Amino acid sequence: IRYFLKSMEHSIWPSSAVHLIPVSTAKNGVSSKSRKRIMPDPVTEPPVTDPVYEALLYCNIPSVAERSMEGHAPHHFKLVSVHVFIRHGDRYPLYVIPKTKRPEIDCTLVANRKPYHPKLEAFVSHMSKGSGASFESPLNSLPLYPNHPLCEMGELTQTGVVQHLQNGQLLRDIYLKKHKLLPNDWSADQLYLETTGKSRTLQSGLALLYGFLPDFDWKKIYFRHQPSALFCSGSCYCPVRNQYLEKEQRRQYLLRLKNSQLEKTYGEMAKIVDVPTKQLRAANPIDSMLCHLCHNVSFPCTRNGCVDMEHFKVIKTHQIEDERERREKKLYLGYSLLGAHPILNQTIGRMQRATEGRKEELFALYSAHDVTLSPVLSALGLSEARFPRFAARLIFELWQDREKPNEHSVRILYNGVDVTFHTSFCQDHHKRSPKPMCPLENLVRFVKRDMFVALGGSSTNYYDACHREGF
Ligand SMILES: *[C@@H]1O[C@H](CO)[C@@H](O)[C@H](O)[C@H]1NC(C)=O
Ligand SMILES: *[C@@H]1O[C@H](CO)[C@@H](O)[C@H](O)[C@H]1NC(C)=O
Repeated sequence: IRYFLKSMEHSIWPSSAVHLIPVSTAKNGVSSKSRKRIMPDPVTEPPVTDPVYEALLYCNIPSVAERSMEGHAPHHFKLVSVHVFIRHGDRYPLYVIPKTKRPEIDCTLVANRKPYHPKLEAFVSHMSKGSGASFESPLNSLPLYPNHPLCEMGELTQTGVVQHLQNGQLLRDIYLKKHKLLPNDWSADQLYLETTGKSRTLQSGLALLYGFLPDFDWKKIYFRHQPSALFCSGSCYCPVRNQYLEKEQRRQYLLRLKNSQLEKTYGEMAKIVDVPTKQLRAANPIDSMLCHLCHNVSFPCTRNGCVDMEHFKVIKTHQIEDERERREKKLYLGYSLLGAHPILNQTIGRMQRATEGRKEELFALYSAHDVTLSPVLSALGLSEARFPRFAARLIFELWQDREKPNEHSVRILYNGVDVTFHTSFCQDHHKRSPKPMCPLENLVRFVKRDMFVALGGSSTNYYDACHREGF
């Protein structure tokens, strides 16, 4: 599994074979704005995906405020709760390219360096005062913000902090200022915060909260520690999931062997850095190369030559092909349905309690990794979605229809785009129903039963699906 998680951390999903563009429909007095959604358009998609363009999307370099569709709903809908899954922001590579100088990137936070955010200095000043008892062990031992003049491996960068300050501010404008999700006298119970034990996820979560909350009071913050990147808590044991994973790894391996251009490229790069090809490949050079690209630092050179953009394009293009085949072969889907069940189950549990009028856990934040978001996206049927970029956000909104208070609905947003009607549990909903959102029951039915049916066996619950014989 460790091997696979490693390799997954760097794969990037292709621009889908079908382009996703906004399409608006106005029905039943619902404004076209709130009905905008993304639909495939095979006409506008370029026939070949551009590996450099894809890589830059992945970098997610902060620029002007983006447009987003979070919080769009007809006036008679009331926002009940919000569940946010994020990937950590931009980070330093996890691996070095052997025998080369690693990129010189400064992980301290300073105002006169780009990218900048108006809350950056206040964030540092607040964090440097310490956190009290705000974290479950062992999170207490982690630094609260990045602070090394030469980044450590995997450390969050200033770009990563700014990405999440921006995410937080955007969500604050929508959910707090516009929809009043939290009362003025909000308390710790109204937040549910969970992070993996890496400094980059904790720091990303803190930056997002700092941008989001009107008053960042340590007494109201409590981060739980999640040991598993799948956020599977007490339900992690699932042998069939591991079998899907092994088959998926095998698929990935065989596809690589078939790509002679890729092998040649690794060979060339290995010569440049003067190590065996195997060793270079094991060092996962794409991770480091992406960092060079995202930070506009030229690729490394040795006296034998330079790693260059052509090398990068070959490896990146292979990743794109790998993602395409991954979607077709569906082994990853099997892995994802089982891998994402526990966290989705937890989420619907939280939503159901909110529909009963409970006022706790109105805002849930899970600070996580690509290997967390990617299976959730896949399990929801969003296989066309791009691989989680740095600081990606996946959001579940729960709404109540004030005119029919017993009816609750959900919206799903990925990086600000409404993907509700692309999920497998609500795909055809808008064709059959004039309702502007997806009924909560659809999501509940999917998580409780249909996601196991989608695996193709006879299982209808998590335990049976995880222990199916003869798979
Ligand atoms: C990238 O770096 C080069 C110099 O190395 C500079 O000319 C160029 O403007 C930089 N691009 C960006 C987007 O900062
Ligand atoms: C799903 O959630 C319910 C509570 O909402 C819990 O009792 C059950 O154990 C969970 N199942 C799994 C597999 O996580």
